[in-house]
Amino acid sequence: MFLNNFLHGFFTDQSKNTFQISEQQMAAAGSMALLASLALAVLVWSVGSEAAQGGLSVGYYSTSCPNVEAIVREEVTRALRLAPSLAAALLRLHFHDCFVRGCDGSILLNSTKRNVAEKDAKPNLTLRGFGFIDRVKARLERECPYVVSCADILALVARDAVVLSNGPTWPVATGRKDGLVSIANETIQLPPPTANISTLISMFASKGLSVKDLVVLSGGHTIGISHCFSFNDRLYNYTGKATPNDDDPTLERHYLAKLRSICKPNDPTTFVEMDPGSFRTFDTSYYKLVTKRRGVFHSDEVLLENSVTRDYVLSHAGASESDFFEDFASSMIKMGDIGVLTSGEVRKKCSVIN
Ligand SMILES: *[C@@H]1O[C@H](CO)[C@@H](O)[C@H](O)[C@H]1NC(C)=O
Ligand SMILES: *[C@@H]1O[C@H](CO)[C@@H](O)[C@H](O)[C@H]1NC(C)=O
Ligand SMILES: *[C@@H]1O[C@H](CO)[C@@H](O)[C@H](O)[C@H]1NC(C)=O
Ligand SMILES: *[C@@H]1O[C@H](CO)[C@@H](O)[C@H](O)[C@H]1NC(C)=O
Ligand SMILES: *[C@@H]1O[C@H](CO)[C@@H](O)[C@H](O)[C@H]1NC(C)=O
Repeated sequence: MFLNNFLHGFFTDQSKNTFQISEQQMAAAGSMALLASLALAVLVWSVGSEAAQGGLSVGYYSTSCPNVEAIVREEVTRALRLAPSLAAALLRLHFHDCFVRGCDGSILLNSTKRNVAEKDAKPNLTLRGFGFIDRVKARLERECPYVVSCADILALVARDAVVLSNGPTWPVATGRKDGLVSIANETIQLPPPTANISTLISMFASKGLSVKDLVVLSGGHTIGISHCFSFNDRLYNYTGKATPNDDDPTLERHYLAKLRSICKPNDPTTFVEMDPGSFRTFDTSYYKLVTKRRGVFHSDEVLLENSVTRDYVLSHAGASESDFFEDFASSMIKMGDIGVLTSGEVRKKCSVIN
């Protein structure tokens, strides 16, 4: 069984050709983002002060590196113009970072002779975007050396990736420091796509995240693509006996047939859109899919098994985006506060400690 993980969307370099988007679409994304930021102005004030309690603050770099947010936004915009599917990968990097040792940039550290880092654990098979983060960091080092942490870059980049996918915006409190430790086997704390609802709830609870945060952050699957191998067991080998027609009976039949036609057994390379037709757009269509039992992962499907998560899925399927957007913003702020370090170092290069 693959040890894969939550927010499984990823990015491949090959996708550049397939996923070209136009300047007009980017401009539209920009104006949507503006509308979203106006709509969330009230939220900004209420959550801004809350975040400051964690030792972080919005505008932490306003004197030490005043252009940091503009630079990050520019870099994310440029990268997504070439490869829109990178958005999901960048969101996922922040998630992986925060779930293991807190949001401390540990996901970015390279292995050394003596230590295998998180990056080189099984879940890394589908992680992308490291080169992009290194590029942003290098530019920020030219602008204001040793000031902006790698952990903060991940948080800002994740927010901008969502905004540029027509999703919500939120104020990112900054001031995180970078950790010194990254251990491959700690990635066991990442919820796998095969998890049942009780495992998902307890894994989120262990990070201080609620059942609501679970169903809201799962909505992040509205963007991105997934390798077949992350869910092939549901198509061919659900009971582990690999008998004919050994599929997940909860998966909707037409969708099962479609996925089987795309994903052959033991296929290591093929991928599918997690939210077919709208996988580049941050919206509530994920909840529609789950309602129709067309979620790609077991961890999507099981959201229908708990009353809180089921009610959320059903009531947001086809509903207007604004509720979900506000919830997503709040849950991302909470996630960005997990285990943050407020003293320590700011790395010069994100892949090695100083
Ligand atoms: C970390 O590893 C990546 C990939 O192997 C490599 O490209 C990068 O140069 C490494 N970073 C440092 C500082 O050596
Ligand atoms: C992922 O980890 C494996 C070891 O488990 C390693 O061989 C591989 O190079 C890593 N891939 C990336 C992209 O870091
Ligand atoms: C995880 O790795 C650390 C050191 O890299 C080791 O001390 C520990 O025993 C390992 N834990 C498990 C459960 O494998
Ligand atoms: C959920 O999965 C865990 C870990 O695989 C297992 O121990 C537990 O029994 C499962 N719970 C249910 C209700 O199936
Ligand atoms: C089916 O799943 C079982 C248990 O996860 C695994 O041991 C077996 O190798 C799988 N068979 C195939 C054909 O993938």
